[in-house]
Amino acid sequence: MGQALPKPGLRPFLPADVPMLAAIFVASIEELTGDDYSEAQQEAWVAAAEDEEEFGKKLAGQLTLIATIQNAPVGFVSLKGADHIDMLFVHPSVAGQGIASMLVDALEKLAGARGAKSLTVDASDTAEPFFKKRGYTAKQRNTVTLNGEWLANTTMQKTLADRSAPGVPT
Ligand SMILES: CC(C)(COP(=O)(O)OP(=O)(O)OC[C@H]1O[C@@H](n2cnc3c(N)ncnc32)[C@H](O)[C@@H]1OP(=O)(O)O)[C@@H](O)C(=O)NCCC(=O)NCCS
Repeated sequence: MGQALPKPGLRPFLPADVPMLAAIFVASIEELTGDDYSEAQQEAWVAAAEDEEEFGKKLAGQLTLIATIQNAPVGFVSLKGADHIDMLFVHPSVAGQGIASMLVDALEKLAGARGAKSLTVDASDTAEPFFKKRGYTAKQRNTVTLNGEWLANTTMQKTLADRSAPGVPT
């Protein structure tokens, strides 16, 4: 692991973030998922950010949180509807340093505070160990078609702590 990072920050998505987030999405797929997906699959996945306007619309329509280091975005997570984690991407230059953990911690708290009892995610094979470590359990194996390629993922679910239960700190 590299040097300790300056303390990361967390903030909501702004429309001006879209080009940076598209770049993080692409770099993260290209550099972090090669053990789990073929080059053709990675290309098909990356193409989802080619139309930046559509990509930005998707992020703006969800609850999107941005992790920053020295004010520059380095990762993001988005919640679709009340209880589904849609996107989670961390720039490879800061991978393995707790950025995704910080993002998902915050999202779980926000979703729980809004009444979600559990969260689901269609985890990539790359992200599956990350979610497993956080207490998500595999429910179903899926194969999805994306720009002519088939990609496997796993639907995982975690029950959130009941924040109204006695003894649970709020
Ligand atoms: C999955 C991903 C978001 C993890 O981001 P990250 O910032 O590196 O994760 P963290 O540093 O917070 O990791 C937290 C823990 O999970 C573990 N972990 C993270 N990625 C892992 C992997 N691919 N394999 C095994 N363990 C992993 C870490 O070792 C760490 O364990 P520790 O707490 O014992 O040290 C990142 O690898 C990524 O962007 N991947 C490519 C895109 C992708 O697949 N996105 C998910 C779509 S659902």
